[in-house]
Amino acid sequence: MLLSAEKVAKHFGSFRAVAGADLAVEEGEIVGLIGPNGAGKSTFFNCIAGDVAPTSGRVVFDGIDVTGAPAEAHARLGIGRTFQMPATFDDMTILDNVMVGAFLRHPRRGEARDRALEVVEMTGLKEQAGLRAGNLGTPGRKRLEIARVLAAGPRLMLLDEALAGLTPGEIQRAIELLRAIHALGITLVIVEHIMEVILSLTRRVLVFNQGHVIASGKPQDVVNDPAVIEAYLGRGHGGARR
Ligand SMILES: Nc1ncnc2c1ncn2[C@@H]1O[C@H](COP(=O)(O)OP(=O)(O)OP(=O)(O)O)[C@@H](O)[C@H]1O
Ligand SMILES: [Mg+2]
Repeated sequence: MLLSAEKVAKHFGSFRAVAGADLAVEEGEIVGLIGPNGAGKSTFFNCIAGDVAPTSGRVVFDGIDVTGAPAEAHARLGIGRTFQMPATFDDMTILDNVMVGAFLRHPRRGEARDRALEVVEMTGLKEQAGLRAGNLGTPGRKRLEIARVLAAGPRLMLLDEALAGLTPGEIQRAIELLRAIHALGITLVIVEHIMEVILSLTRRVLVFNQGHVIASGKPQDVVNDPAVIEAYLGRGHGGARR
């Protein structure tokens, strides 16, 4: 098992944002994570990636207990995550932003730059590599967020709404990019409200609601599960596609 999150909980005061959730991912899988707004998906990612320490539960990556370890330790072991709000440095160039990721495995500047150049090429950012990141629109920012994480050499990528805000054509190209990343041998866990993305990339999906996993299985079965439909009711059934 590449990743095993066991009974992970994260409380904010008396509020249980994640209330004991399990996720086991085999190397090479693409797993989807869906659920209404506020279900706890990003907080669960924060716990897995070391951005917050879980209140309780355990996170084991490739046999190593990483529970509560700092994010950098997670990244070094090979857990990469994109942020729902892209964590880009607006005043730096796109290439330099990607180098920030590449430095994790390539402390020498020249090597980090070479790695970043490969990644901007793969992620379709080559033409814009010398521009300020702040000049990018939503699609470019989303790509840059993926590129920065990819440059850090992850074995597992946690993608938190990495395709949100894209047009249908951009979504198709982003799906192709994620397929290419997966083909490199990188395992993916995808949080996404866009069902098309979940249906075309994943064979297994978990549904979060109020901090719990309320359903899991094949995407097609899960979207027809009455408990899942119920969880989305009142929040706009069919995916809270903001
Ligand atoms: N630092 C925090 N302090 C207090 N409450 C928080 C904090 N972070 C998240 N929450 C709350 O935890 C709940 C889960 O939030 P989270 O962002 O994990 O949901 P989500 O499933 O990612 O939602 P979305 O689909 O809108 O991104 C929300 O009610 C949110 O307001
Ligand atoms: Mg979220």
